[in-house]
This record gives sequence, structure tokens and C-alpha cells, in this order.
Amino acid sequence: MANRLSTSFTGLEFVNPFVLASAPPTESKRKIMKAFEAGWGGVVTKTIGLHHVENVAGPKTIFQRASDVKPYVSRNKRPDTVSHSSWNWELISDQPLDLWLPDLEEIKTTYPDRMLIASIMAGAGNDEEMRNWQKLATSCINAGCDAIELNLSCPHMDRKDMGANIANDEEIIRDIINAVTDAVDVPIWVKLTPATAALVDAARAAYEAGASAISLCNTFPSLPLLDPETMKFEVEVDGLVTSGGLGGLAIVHQALQRVSDISKAFPDRAISGIGGIRGFREAFNFVAHGAGNLQVCTAAMEEKGSGGVGIKLIQELKDDLADYMERKGHSSIEEFRGCARHRIVDHSQVRRKSDEYNGGYAKSA
Ligand SMILES: Cc1cc2nc3c(=O)[nH]c(=O)nc-3n(C[C@H](O)[C@H](O)[C@H](O)COP(=O)(O)O)c2cc1C
Repeated sequence: MANRLSTSFTGLEFVNPFVLASAPPTESKRKIMKAFEAGWGGVVTKTIGLHHVENVAGPKTIFQRASDVKPYVSRNKRPDTVSHSSWNWELISDQPLDLWLPDLEEIKTTYPDRMLIASIMAGAGNDEEMRNWQKLATSCINAGCDAIELNLSCPHMDRKDMGANIANDEEIIRDIINAVTDAVDVPIWVKLTPATAALVDAARAAYEAGASAISLCNTFPSLPLLDPETMKFEVEVDGLVTSGGLGGLAIVHQALQRVSDISKAFPDRAISGIGGIRGFREAFNFVAHGAGNLQVCTAAMEEKGSGGVGIKLIQELKDDLADYMERKGHSSIEEFRGCARHRIVDHSQVRRKSDEYNGGYAKSA
């Protein structure tokens, strides 16, 4: 029988729609190999760049948990807690491109049926940076990668011409996509920041410039909590902290809303859904709003004993999706993709109890 979980997304054939997002689970050949062995349909590599990367002199990521007993959110170890979120201020990969390239080649040769997407990032504002985007894209594709994801969304880059710092600029989005599509002929996924009121405009600029898909969401800009007793932040260096990225279950609702906005504005275009997927229910919701591909980070990192690549998680995601599809008689996720789209409406379009309601305005005589 045909594999119900196989999906075609941006012209690439995935054995299942579940992909490890660009982050620590995909930061090395060892982890990516382990992830493919566990059954992930694809990976987006940890973002690869050309500039010098030096992370903060302290923990780069914390996992925050909530408790029913003392319902505050903290990384501190307490009994009976459940996962709430990850918070990180990690920069992109510090492994240089020339060390990545033989690794990418070996990964693709070992797992030819799995999709290997290279996440890349350079700067903006001059021709040299455009050439850097082209060099990164060309090198990764020549090493065997199937597609490119442009990181225009890291919420805490140290450089002002990178990541979310430039993601609201439609001209820059167009310039980068034009440079990359001039250099390589593969699907280009564009990872945008959710932290903008102009997300639909940014997505339009990206699609029009040749993006095959929008990947949404990167982590949400946020601050860690300050402990009132110790006056320490949950994470800090020398008492200082800066805006970092919130991921995990805590962001699922906001991520879905961003995906829904793009899906309603561009129903025929591809979206890779990311943000708070821990199991089938969250994954299902992204598909219901229009995503044709699903990326996971925090839940994989949190799985104990898996080396941070979500070995049990991918098995559960596949089993639960297959079970659901069998019970509902679906042969592909395409049969329910976007099914929630028409049910997301303006507030004024939701039925009121009285006939007098006129969208919040006085009824004209
Ligand atoms: C520690 C950490 C590092 C990350 N690094 C990257 C990165 O290099 N490039 C990128 O595009 N996204 C990066 N992300 C964002 C994730 O790919 C993902 O978009 C985000 O965590 C939301 O998914 P989640 O809720 O499943 O964690 C990182 C996330 C975390 C937690």
C-alpha cells in the first residue's frame, strides 16, 4: 500500500512531512544522521554563515516549565512540572562552511531519500553580502542539499544587517531572493520573523521574488523572567540579558495565527509550519490552517535520552498521523490541508445574539 505520510512539498518528495527545524538538533553531521535513522522526513540544517560567530559567555538555551502547585514559569527543577517553552539567545552555527560541506555530502549520500535543506544567512546592504548569500547557496547545493532556507528571522543577531533586523524590509527581502535564485535552481524557502505587523507584505515580497515557501515561525522576541528574591534573570551574563527567542508549546497559538494570515492571503502558496509542535494535535492544526510541511525544534531538544533529536517524538508523530488518516479515510494530508482556512473570519463576522448588531457601528436608519 502507498505510504499515506509521503508528501510533495515545493517539488520535493518527503517520506513524511516531519522535519527537524534549523537549531541544535541539526547542528552537526552526527545529530542529522541520528535524526534520519530515527525517521525524520527531512532536516533544515542549523543556519550556516560566513562571518565570525561568537556566542554569549553563558547558557545559550533554557527550557522553562510550569507547575500546577506553584504556577510560575521557571527553568528551576521542581517536581510535577510540564514543559512551557524554550528561551534562547544562540547565534547561528559556528562551524565554518568548509567543514559543513563534506558533512552535507556524506549525509545526503547516506540518506538519499531524506530531504536536506540548508539554512543560510549573510548580511545585507551591499554587493559583497549578496555574493555571500550566493556563495553559501551554491556551495550547499553542490554538496547535495535539496533546497535552501533563507534565515531572515533570527530574533537576536548581534549584527544589524542580519536576521530579524532586516526582515521587515521588502526591498532587502527581494534583493536577497533575487541574488540566491540567480545562483541556484532549487526550491527556496524563506523563514520570516513573526515579530512584524507587516508579515503579509513581507511574504508577498518573498513569494513574488521567487520564494517557493514561507517557513513560519522562528522564535518570538522575548525576555526571560527576573527572580524577585535573587534578582537574577532565569539566564543572564554578568547580570545582563537581551531580547531572545521564545519557542515551544507557549508559542503554538501565535504561530498558528501567523500561518493562518499567510495561508488566507496566499492560499495557493506553500507554507512550512513551525512553532510549538509537540505531538500530532499541534501538527494537525498547522496542516488545517494550510501548512504542507511541519518543522519541530524545542520538543526534540527536550526529549531525554534522544541526544536532542526526538527519537520517540518522530515515531509518535508518524504513528499518530497515520492512525488519524486511516480512521478518517485520508490517503494524503492534502485531503485536509487548509480545512480550517475559511473558518477564520473577522471578529464582526461572528454571530451575535441580537439582530441589532451592525459590526460594532450604529445601525443606520
Ligand atoms: C536553541 C535554538 C537555536 C535556534 N537556532 C536557529 C537557527 O540557527 N536558525 C533558524 O532559522 N532558527 C533557529 N531556531 C528556531 C527554530 O528553528 C524554530 O523556528 C523555533 O524554535 C520554533 O519552533 P519550536 O517551537 O518547535 O521550538 C533556534 C531555536 C532554538 C531553541
